Order: sequence, then C-alpha cells, then structure tokens
Amino acid sequence: MASYLFEEMEDSHEVMGVDIHPPVHAAAIGKVKQVDIRDVEGMIEAAHGCDAVVHTAAQVSVQRSTEDPSGDADTNVLGTIGALRAAQAAGVQKFVYISTAAVYGDPQCVPVDEQHPLSPKSFYGASKLCGEHYVRAFGSTFGLPWFIIRPFNFYSPRADPKSPYSGVITKFSQAAKAGMPLRIEGDGLQTRDFLHARDVARMVHLAVRSETVGEVVNCGSGRGTSIRELANVFGEIAPEGVKIENVPPRRSDIRDSVAEVSRARCLLGFETEVGLREGLLTFFE
Ligand SMILES: NC(=O)c1ccc[n+]([C@@H]2O[C@H](COP(=O)([O-])OP(=O)(O)OC[C@H]3O[C@@H](n4cnc5c(N)ncnc54)[C@H](O)[C@@H]3O)[C@@H](O)[C@H]2O)c1
Repeated sequence: MASYLFEEMEDSHEVMGVDIHPPVHAAAIGKVKQVDIRDVEGMIEAAHGCDAVVHTAAQVSVQRSTEDPSGDADTNVLGTIGALRAAQAAGVQKFVYISTAAVYGDPQCVPVDEQHPLSPKSFYGASKLCGEHYVRAFGSTFGLPWFIIRPFNFYSPRADPKSPYSGVITKFSQAAKAGMPLRIEGDGLQTRDFLHARDVARMVHLAVRSETVGEVVNCGSGRGTSIRELANVFGEIAPEGVKIENVPPRRSDIRDSVAEVSRARCLLGFETEVGLREGLLTFFE
C-alpha cells in the first residue's frame, strides 16, 4: 500500500519512508531509508523534521502471527512504540496509525461500525489492537495528535504474488493467469469488504490533511462481496476465463465482514472510487 501513498501524496507533500526491505516500486525508489521500526534511535533520526508520521509498517499476516505470536507482537507492538517515539520526538502535527478490521474479531452484526466491540480472534488482530492502545496512550501522556484508520480487505496488483500469506484476490489473480482453478473454501458465500489500495492511500491523505484528531475510522467500501461473486468477476474479466475448485472451509473463518462507512464520509468526505471490477482489471494490465 505504501507505494500508492507515495504516488497519492507526491504533489502535495515531501514524503519519505522507512522499511526493512528496499522498495521495489518506482514511486518509492530513492525515498525509503532502511530502518527497522523497532530501532528507536534510527526511527527518531528518520522522523526528524517531519510534520506527520503515517505508520503502515507491520507484520501483516494472520497465519504468520499464529505460527510466531512473539515475532508478530515484536513488530506490531514494539515497532508501533518505535514509530510513536519518533513522532513524539519530532513533534509532529499528526500520527496516523493504520490498524485493521481484525481488531473487531467475529462481527456480531454487519455492517461493522466503529462502536462494535473489540474482540480480535487472531494474534495479528490482538497486536494491532495493542498498537491502537499505545497510540491513544501517547496521545493522553504526551499530547500526540493521532488518527486511527481501520482498513477492511484491501488488495493491490503490487502485492507479492509469491508470498504464501497473500490474500484471496492475489491468489485468485495468480491462479487465473496460470490457468489454475480458483479454490473456493467452503460454500463461498462468506462476504468481505474489498477495496483497492489506491483508495486506502487516498483516505490516509485525507486524514493527514484533515484537522480532525483523536478519531477512529473504518476504511472500506461499505459493500460486501461473496467469494463466489468474486470468482465470477474473475471469470468475466480473465482473458482465458477461470476454473473453480471447491475445497473444505477454513477453520474458524469469519463469515461476513463489511464496513459501516458513514463516519469516514462524515469526518473525511471519503468514498471509495475504484470499483471492484475496475480494480481487478488492474491485475491483468
Ligand atoms: N492488506 C490488507 O488487506 C490490510 C487490511 C487491514 C490493515 N492492513 C494494514 O495495512 C498496513 C500495510 O499493509 P500491506 O498489506 O500494504 O502490507 P505490506 O507487507 O505491503 O506492508 C508492510 C510493510 O512493513 C514492512 N515491515 C515489516 N516489519 C518491519 C519492521 N520491523 N521495520 C520496518 N518495516 C517493516 C514490510 O517490509 C512491508 O514493506 C499494515 O499495517 C497492515 O496491518 C492491511
């Protein structure tokens, strides 16, 4: 997602980033320092002179968090503290934390609004929620102005297709391109709120520019799409069509996850712009 953020903000801000890996996308090349977010001194040095910090770096895989809960917490909790200490030292006007819808756990009702109980099911959701608590505590302890964004399922043709932890859209696009079947887990009627990473970057930009602080906002399209519908859209747009394979359901999968988006509309004037079909077409360009 960070490469879209560089593109989104390049005309209005001077943007630099940190990452443990060198950037691969042209928009970020030459603008990213190799710093580990857990390295507090390195982070303070990197953030010196910044007006705002957007904290996107994370261990992002639910599966990996199950395999290595300590490693997940190390990056997502201690790393968030590193980013917060750097932002505090720089005296920024805004700290934007990219959280996740995983902090809600199993939705008790859909669409999920920001008042929904916070009960993460995964270690990943727990570590990201812990990050949210640290963000608020830096606000109350040091007066750091913060803003929290909880994205639902975002996708990007720039995501690493070789990663064993990639999301369903990356997996489906890879399978469609390779002539392999799209594997639908369970009945395929489980729904997700998909949005393009370009829209997430746009919301982050709006949050950086907004004078609103101390708010938590969902980032989604507000529309649920079942996995079966998703496979059908791939079938319509993939040049060679697609084959479908039905496989057993994933254990303890969330059934429906759709964002309630009126707060984002009201506080930031945000609506998604990239429709699902249009967004999926970017995988075949
Ligand atoms: N992809 C989604 O659907 C989704 C949904 C909700 C929230 N999010 C959140 O959005 C943010 C971006 O996710 P993404 O999907 O673009 O993933 P991504 O893997 O593209 O981005 C995460 C980046 O963090 C970097 N990183 C990891 N550990 C680091 C460390 N110790 N120091 C410095 N950099 C480190 C990685 O190298 C990577 O470039 C994350 O905070 C994630 O939790 C993602």
